[in-house]
Amino acid sequence: MTVITEANKTKARDLTAKLTLDEKIAIVHAAGLFRNGCAERLGIPSLKMDDGPMGVRAELHNDNWAPLYNTRDYVTYLPSGSAVASTWNPDLARATGEVLGEEARGRGKDVILGPSINIKRSPLCGRNFEYMSEDPVLTATQGVAYIQGVQESDVAACAKHYAVNSQETDRLDVDETVSERALREIYLPAFEAAVHDGGVLSVMGAYNLVNGTKCCEHKQLLDDILRDEYGFDGFVVSDWSAVRDTKASAEVGMDVEMSVTPNFDDYYFANPLKKAVENGEVKESDVDVKVERVIAVMDALHMLGDARATRKPGRYATIDHAAKALEIARESIVLLKNDENLLPLDERGMTRLLVIGANADRIHSNGGGSAVIKALHEISPLLGLNGELGGNVDIEYVLGYDAKQVNQDESWQEESLENSKGSDAKDELHARELREEAVAKAREYAAAGDSVLFIGGLDHEHDLEGRDRTDMHLPYGQDELIEALLEAAPNTILAFVAGSPIEMPWADKAKAIVWNWYAGCESGAALAEVLFGRVNPSGHLPETFPIALADEPAHRIGTFGLEGHVDYAEDIYVGYRYFDTRQVPVLFPFGHGLSYTDFAFRDLDVRQVDDEIRVTFTVENIGDCAGKAVAQVYLGLEGTGEDRPAKELKGFAKVELDAGEFREVTVAMPAAKALRYWSNESGAYALAPEASVFVGESVEDIRLSGRVA
Ligand code: BGC
Repeated sequence: MTVITEANKTKARDLTAKLTLDEKIAIVHAAGLFRNGCAERLGIPSLKMDDGPMGVRAELHNDNWAPLYNTRDYVTYLPSGSAVASTWNPDLARATGEVLGEEARGRGKDVILGPSINIKRSPLCGRNFEYMSEDPVLTATQGVAYIQGVQESDVAACAKHYAVNSQETDRLDVDETVSERALREIYLPAFEAAVHDGGVLSVMGAYNLVNGTKCCEHKQLLDDILRDEYGFDGFVVSDWSAVRDTKASAEVGMDVEMSVTPNFDDYYFANPLKKAVENGEVKESDVDVKVERVIAVMDALHMLGDARATRKPGRYATIDHAAKALEIARESIVLLKNDENLLPLDERGMTRLLVIGANADRIHSNGGGSAVIKALHEISPLLGLNGELGGNVDIEYVLGYDAKQVNQDESWQEESLENSKGSDAKDELHARELREEAVAKAREYAAAGDSVLFIGGLDHEHDLEGRDRTDMHLPYGQDELIEALLEAAPNTILAFVAGSPIEMPWADKAKAIVWNWYAGCESGAALAEVLFGRVNPSGHLPETFPIALADEPAHRIGTFGLEGHVDYAEDIYVGYRYFDTRQVPVLFPFGHGLSYTDFAFRDLDVRQVDDEIRVTFTVENIGDCAGKAVAQVYLGLEGTGEDRPAKELKGFAKVELDAGEFREVTVAMPAAKALRYWSNESGAYALAPEASVFVGESVEDIRLSGRVA
């Protein structure tokens, strides 16, 4: 793990003392869309930054958003944050980071702008696909492993967007009113872990306001919490154009200003900051501290002087990176429903297969906003299926519904300060023709006893930076098509590719439902492997799938998606903390995921040894094929005298077992973390005196319970 040492800091101080004011100013603001200025005289280079969480973004011009259009910036397209979280496997989160770090270094980057660790507060947030989970512990665990992986390659990870950036509507100006308790328990812990446990070298200040103050001017968030409490000593970079006031940002721990326009000298931290220092409005020592932080990170990354010879080399677009992406994708797929063991499909004796749906035949790396990837390759589900089955099985494909193709405009980011508009309505007649064709085919296949597979969902017209969805319905008339398909061919298998949950009004009628996030370059191959049983699914939901949007606490209790101001009135009751505590029924609960085998849990033993709570139990594979269980440990904090969620995730373990195999598993957690809560009464952290313990395969599927003794 790369961390900033005292030696890095001393070097940074010595170098800063030698810089002129102009050189310092250059270092704290952009000199390109993805780099800051340098001080060549003293061998201080620019920091080259790039998006983003799913791979290194294509090379753009220094001062405009057009790509260079060369062939040397194709990269490995990695699974999205949601997919990484859905594996519940920190080794795979680390692998994602390792690949990304190596690729970033290979592409000559110093800072990769990820992971995105904001909490999913509402299913409608346009960037949910980048984010990991509604739960802070799952986000923190996967985020920390990812950061450590990235930083193995002498590249800085950047934890973004600090903080409470859980909606896209009016993203530059929206003021999020959130209680101290929700900040401390829900929205900040992943950042705390990124600093403490991950050693993250940079953090991105978000666009939005928190409780009336812009994140990039927020003394409490940037100085009191991030630096003083968490001990962060890397640098904070602004989100692109999140700085709006020279003095207000200069006086807090906001270090490097980036933005979206090429007038770099006019940036708040450029000439205006120089002037403010010269006329005494801003102290030069405030600028010095910022410069020191940047240089200390550079030194930690071996970017300065002779140390450059020891900087690790990187590689990108390699076959082994694609193989890693496949491993991660395989474990991210969630089997939501599998009545009558309809899955896996059996290819023996299969001669033909009908595939319906636009997402079968499309790729997703080419959209989404700043997370867009110029992927070396991306296997669509249709390619994955053909690749696995080609030859003996005749795969017939019909579209079924018409989805708008996403062609992200080159200059979208320059105009990204405006909220974008929705897509056009589809031609009803055309839609009906497509639907009728698909339903007729499905009926014919079902009558002949042949399999029908629907692959639909969302795309980056809906999972998109800069815009939230307005509802949770499937677009393009898919609900109507699915209803008709289930009528005509009741065994139709439903697979979805999407970045956020959808309402499923037909869920009761469907026998098999498979969920695939935007899962990187091998996504379609992994899906085919799961559908045909070559891989036993082991992904579990990192967020609740509600029955209807109206059930969501952010919508029912708080406000979401408004311009100007949103109120996080649901407080800490986000996701399952709300549904489980208030016993509101859901479609699929947090942590849910089926397997082609079954697991039994027994012999719970909970003990507190010194400062550690150890939860020990045995997991047994009682089915007839190998599989991976996700054992989830929840605590219900008691005796606090304050309202608390019924259960909160505190730890988990992914356990691989052959058929008939069993193993004792211990999930250990520091008591100071597991029992910690923010007390409204004292306005400080406190430890719960007692707690119930629950072990299960989802927040609703609890198999064992006990108490912290
Ligand atoms: C996004 C960031 C991204 C930056 C640079 C902004 O629009 O919010 O996540 O890193 O652009 O592309």
